[in-house]
Amino acid sequence: MTDKKLTTTAGAPVADNQNSLSAGPRGPLLMQDYQLLEKLAHQNRERIPERTVHAKGWGAFGTLTITGDISKFTKAAALQPGAKTEMLLRCSTVAGELGAADAERDVRGFAIKFYTTEGNWDLVGNNTPVFFVRDPYKFPDFIHTQKRHPKTNMRSPTAMWDFWSLSPESLHQVTILMSDRGLPTDIRHINGYGSHTYSLINAKNERVWVKFHFKTMQGHKHWTNKEAADIVGHTRESTQEDLFTSIEKGDFPKWKVQVQIMPEADVGKHWYNPFDLTKVWPHGDYPPIDIGVMELNRNPENYFAEIEQAAFSPSNIVPGISFSPDKMLQARIFSYADAHRYRLGTHYEHLPVNAPKCPVHHYHKDGPMNFFGQQTGSTDAYYEPNSFNGPVEDKSALEPPLAISGDAERYNHRDGNDDYRQVTALFNLFDKDQKARLFTNIAEAMWGIPDFIAERQLAHFKKVHPEYEAGVRTALEHMTRAKASEATRQQKMPQGAQAAE
Ligand code: HEM
Repeated sequence: MTDKKLTTTAGAPVADNQNSLSAGPRGPLLMQDYQLLEKLAHQNRERIPERTVHAKGWGAFGTLTITGDISKFTKAAALQPGAKTEMLLRCSTVAGELGAADAERDVRGFAIKFYTTEGNWDLVGNNTPVFFVRDPYKFPDFIHTQKRHPKTNMRSPTAMWDFWSLSPESLHQVTILMSDRGLPTDIRHINGYGSHTYSLINAKNERVWVKFHFKTMQGHKHWTNKEAADIVGHTRESTQEDLFTSIEKGDFPKWKVQVQIMPEADVGKHWYNPFDLTKVWPHGDYPPIDIGVMELNRNPENYFAEIEQAAFSPSNIVPGISFSPDKMLQARIFSYADAHRYRLGTHYEHLPVNAPKCPVHHYHKDGPMNFFGQQTGSTDAYYEPNSFNGPVEDKSALEPPLAISGDAERYNHRDGNDDYRQVTALFNLFDKDQKARLFTNIAEAMWGIPDFIAERQLAHFKKVHPEYEAGVRTALEHMTRAKASEATRQQKMPQGAQAAE
């Protein structure tokens, strides 16, 4: 028997948690059974809005350890040689809702919160170095094609391929999504990428451009579509099971942390725009540099409090690490904190999982659920400037000026952009079997869409490589024949046999 007494949320003892208070054994109930009212009212409030994207996720805590030396590029305390920083990783699928199956072909989110001594640094990336679109205007439309059709309430391959075939900048990411890496067995066996170009700033206030990579030390593991269908038939929580049990048994997953560094002056020297999220920086131009290891070693105690309520935002940067002109990144600086205020509430940064582990001093006041009081160290300092020793700005965090050239204009992001070249390079890396799986995966994903959309997409594949288009076309024809012979077989069956089959 426990000696802990059950109480109401106000701390008063609960005398009976099994039988409601009624006027006689057959009822009715009395309004004064406050404990019952409280219990029912709380149940009504147990759900919060799920994330509009990346709703299904899995997370764990761990450590970032820096072993390399990039101090000449950055003054960030968390990136100095020997630094150890507590962190939280939440991975996710993009399109599925909160209860979706884990083993789905989809991009995996790779969102990290580093609790640094200078504030929280969030790197909210994916398991791919590129993305489907390069202008944030396109993001809500793209996501509409991934979610449910307004009338059928089903996912729509027609919408997906219509959008992709009209947006050739998506080819790079679509090719990765339809390749082996598009259906990983779990998150221990994927890479993570910051994806965007960010900047590093050193103690002399000089800037370089940077990309962050997290390379799995467990190796890559993937499922075929068929294997994944079998897995989903057995469990919808395959990734959750894998991550949770490996950490529980002390088998801690690790990632090698790397950066690619580009001097500020290199912008404009290449055929690709280094701030275009649909492009990678070729390793030949900018070799990855090892800087440390990230390890996951602690499961959350409470999934809802620590993973569902986790709020990651690309707007969270720290001195020595900053933004870049990437238009997608710029838009995300707005979107995430806005989403969190809606999903979690005004003071979401004060929830324990989101709270920085360094001192926090701000002048934001009041609002729902202010449980932290005055953050300025003085009750008289509730505005700024003040004469009561309140916190003041720190000019040492000023960044070097960013040279910008160009007129304010709605520049066509497709003008002069080569959407095929890097996809050709990727396609050429695939061996025969990888290509065969790519063709089949695409054919299966395209099955049933209108011919004119399929043809428009095939034309893009042809521009990447004639073999790419021919492979997908043959796979589509093969599927058509297989479906037709299956339909004929069904028609020829004696009546009643179909139901029995
Ligand atoms: C303009 C483009 C984008 C917009 C407007 C956008 C917006 C959002 C929003 C509103 C959420 C839900 C946040 C929440 O409720 O907590 C989200 C989640 C997420 N997004 Fe994006 N997104 C964009 C592009 C990207 C890109 C390019 C990446 C990766 C490179 C990415 C990775 C993620 C991840 C990993 C999450 C889940 C974070 C978590 O685990 O809580 N997004 N995005």
